[in-house]
Amino acid sequence: MNILVIGGGGREHAIAHAFSRSPRVHTVFVSPGNPGMTDVATLVSLDDAAIAAFARGNDVGFVFIGPEQPLANGLADTLRADGVRVIGPSQAAARIESSKAFAKDIMRRYDVPTAAYEVFGDYEPACAFLRTAAFPLVIKADGLAAGKGVTVAHSFEEADEALRGIFIDQRFGQTDVVIEEFLVGWETSIFAFTDGEQFVSTIFSQDHKPLLNGDKGPNTGGMGAYAPVKSAERWRDEVNEKVFGRALAGLRAEGCPFSGILYAGLMMTADGPRVVEFNCRFGDPETEVVLPLLLTDMVSICEAIDGGEVQNLQLKWNDRFAVAVVAASGGYPGSYRKGLAINIEPWQSDEARVYYAGVKQAEDGLATSGGRVLLVAAVADTLSAACDEAYRHMNKISFDDIIYRTDIGAKGY
Ligand code: AMP
Ligand code: GLY
Repeated sequence: MNILVIGGGGREHAIAHAFSRSPRVHTVFVSPGNPGMTDVATLVSLDDAAIAAFARGNDVGFVFIGPEQPLANGLADTLRADGVRVIGPSQAAARIESSKAFAKDIMRRYDVPTAAYEVFGDYEPACAFLRTAAFPLVIKADGLAAGKGVTVAHSFEEADEALRGIFIDQRFGQTDVVIEEFLVGWETSIFAFTDGEQFVSTIFSQDHKPLLNGDKGPNTGGMGAYAPVKSAERWRDEVNEKVFGRALAGLRAEGCPFSGILYAGLMMTADGPRVVEFNCRFGDPETEVVLPLLLTDMVSICEAIDGGEVQNLQLKWNDRFAVAVVAASGGYPGSYRKGLAINIEPWQSDEARVYYAGVKQAEDGLATSGGRVLLVAAVADTLSAACDEAYRHMNKISFDDIIYRTDIGAKGY
């Protein structure tokens, strides 16, 4: 069969790469993809309305939707209604990510461990709540905000400024606000493959959201990741039962069973794991370290999800470590230059590879076109060796203004 992946970032490059390793896959199409992915994929550019006909006409076994926005828009529903086999939740189930208030209400109702919270629809009552609250606390715009809708406020003034930005300046459009307890601990994330009833969870991984070494500087879409996070393993049974088990049961009970990939972002606190967020899809950049270690055929995973047979799915993992380091454009997450030529001294190794994110085709090669430009992902027997491999290969890559953290993975060893 052929596969069609929807999306165009480093995550989708890693997804396409995983499908390309399946002996059952002939061609991996990606729409719109990016010109760095052509090592494993064939690029196509399809409007949502053209996807079903393309899938039927090109022997596409599964359409795999990478990013949250098309899922929140209901793309999985329209494709399913058109008879296309698709991996990704319905619009109703995707609210677990697209509405933080919905996600928190599900967690409260079905006893999923998470930070205490209140939801507000207007500035005045939210501000009144802040006057009696203890700091720090966390202010979140309700909808999808590409990671920019969260403020950790250490004082009333900081919190009030965030509230004004959301309600008065409408920085994220018309939206509710979730105000929640600040959790202390360390963060890790994990995915579940689920058909809505059964689920199987993956290895744990860890994102690095702040821009600079030592987790300093502004938050970004993620500057690197590693997997597995062995120190999280002791929590696996608890996470399976109280996080995935309860959330999926809750979504079923609410009439919107979730099928696809459910992402749990966790804070490991002194009282155990607490959910910071759910996402309705694979994480980015976690996917770029989890999928390289996955030995199970992606097609059999899709068949189990789509066919309601996840109870028969046994995941096999390469017993090694993966690290992915993001190279970004200087200035990111603020403004940055684009169109800068990317130079790579080529190497021959399956242990280290490049996943492309924000690139475009230039006359004589690839050029930068986004904040996060590419990732170097490396696999090795130990975490520190994987870090060394990733950075050794990053040294072969250059473009003007290139920035990357030099401590990705260091927390894990
Ligand atoms: P979110 O978009 O909800 O994942 O939040 C982005 C980041 O803000 C998280 O990865 C955490 O680092 C931080 N964060 C969010 N909620 C909390 C919380 N309740 N306590 C502490 N940190 C949080
Ligand atoms: N790595 C966080 C996310 O994918 O939302």
